[in-house]
Amino acid sequence: MIRNILCIGAGYVGGPTMAIIAKHCPDVRVVVADINAERVAAWQSGVAPIYEPGLEDVLRMSLGRNLHFTADVEGAIPDAEMIFVSVNTPTKTFGQGAGRAADLQHWEKTARSILQHARGDTIVVEKSTLPVRTAEAMERIFKSRDGGARFQVLSNPEFLAEGTAIEDLEHPDRVLIGGAETPDGQAAIQELVDLYARWVPRDRILTTNVWSAELSKLAANAFLAQRVSSINAISALCEQTGADVQEVGRAIGTDHRIGPHFLRASVGFGGSCFEKDILNLVYLCECYGLEEVGRYWEAVVTMNQYQKRRFVQRMIHAMFNTLADKQITVFGFAFKADTGDTRQSPAIQVCRELLGERAFVCVTDPQALDGARRDLADAGPRVSFTPDPYEAARGAHAIALLTDWREYRDLDYQRIYARMERPAFFFDGRNLLDPEKLHRIGFNVYPIGLPERSLL
Ligand code: UDX
Ligand code: UDX
Repeated sequence: MIRNILCIGAGYVGGPTMAIIAKHCPDVRVVVADINAERVAAWQSGVAPIYEPGLEDVLRMSLGRNLHFTADVEGAIPDAEMIFVSVNTPTKTFGQGAGRAADLQHWEKTARSILQHARGDTIVVEKSTLPVRTAEAMERIFKSRDGGARFQVLSNPEFLAEGTAIEDLEHPDRVLIGGAETPDGQAAIQELVDLYARWVPRDRILTTNVWSAELSKLAANAFLAQRVSSINAISALCEQTGADVQEVGRAIGTDHRIGPHFLRASVGFGGSCFEKDILNLVYLCECYGLEEVGRYWEAVVTMNQYQKRRFVQRMIHAMFNTLADKQITVFGFAFKADTGDTRQSPAIQVCRELLGERAFVCVTDPQALDGARRDLADAGPRVSFTPDPYEAARGAHAIALLTDWREYRDLDYQRIYARMERPAFFFDGRNLLDPEKLHRIGFNVYPIGLPERSLL
């Protein structure tokens, strides 16, 4: 029975995952280590450095009892029997595979550090999304030096979505554990199965070989993203033909073979995983000479870029083919509701294109303004930020709603309209609001994949 767990990387994945393990396994000591001392200090204080509904309640249940945070990564390694690695693996920006392959430098540095400091037999669990066969490579690194400690590498991909992380961790559709088909590999799998079995029904814990687990993570995200790109492709056709993408989405989603989820047309998908994982998959296909397979998946990303571009084109077209010196107010910068995360948010590209048209852009968001300031740090004085949506709307020619925050549904749009220039435009990139209601107030409304409601 494992009694000492370490997680390296206290981010969106590592923090919530370990808080849930600590909650359900009070007899297990869980240490979370991160090189970022500021982040560690935040976690230690019980105020999570990320916005995630319900997280702080879970955190405080175990903090200081069996859940500890530290910036001393190396010092925490020797005592750990099981080490989860959830450091970030962004897309490579340099060298071979730039723009597609995963940048594994953090992972490899972490692996070497584990190799150097581990004392006894250690199970290393991949939580970061990694290219298929990384576990095997890591196992070879671990075997390259005989320091007395023996290692087993497991792949245990994380399927939590931001904004619903706690619920996803508490009641996962499945937990996937990949390991070697040797007796030692099977024993390591069993240790991790026993841990999850404390709160996850046994039939939801799937065990596979390592490569299946690694590939399943990439494939799951590619399938989800593909659904969004598919409905977004249909949304373009709806706008041309007068069909209603919400009606189409409902109609196809009631087919139980298709299912109702991930059929919401939008300005585009974002987040730290979808694009990165698909590009990773494309690179993997290319490495194995599977050009056609790579092109097939790459189209999901191409469609997403097109959707973001198309959104701005529609704005330009509606607003008499010029945005120069007009003020566009952006409602929502996070890549989805209930998170402060802006990684790969469609708002980044949309704002940049609006600024490229010489518009003034005013960004408002309930949680993601720090991220927005960082992402648009080089944009100059034409962009401004305010947490108050009413303030943001003052003097605006148009509102572009880019994140599906619930609070945007309940705003007083009459009041907002009164503060705007005429004619007032509303581009709903999430189909969050009732276009008829907005139209009755006086807005020219442009939802995604629905006919425009124009007064002009
Ligand atoms: C990350 C990856 O992006 C994702 O692909 C993977 O599935 C899980 O891990 P996330 O938790 O969202 O997801 O990343 P992030 O919030 O950036 O957290 C990573 C943490 O690792 C950061 O706090 C960073 O400081 C830390 N880190 C990074 C280390 O502790 N050591 C390193 O060498 C590098
Ligand atoms: C995703 C996966 O869902 C999760 O299993 C994996 O572990 C990490 O990647 P996440 O990126 O947190 O999670 O968010 P998700 O809810 O999947 O949304 C991704 C993007 O797609 C968001 O920008 C969201 O707004 C968009 N989306 C989602 C749509 O545009 N339409 C939809 O119908 C669903």
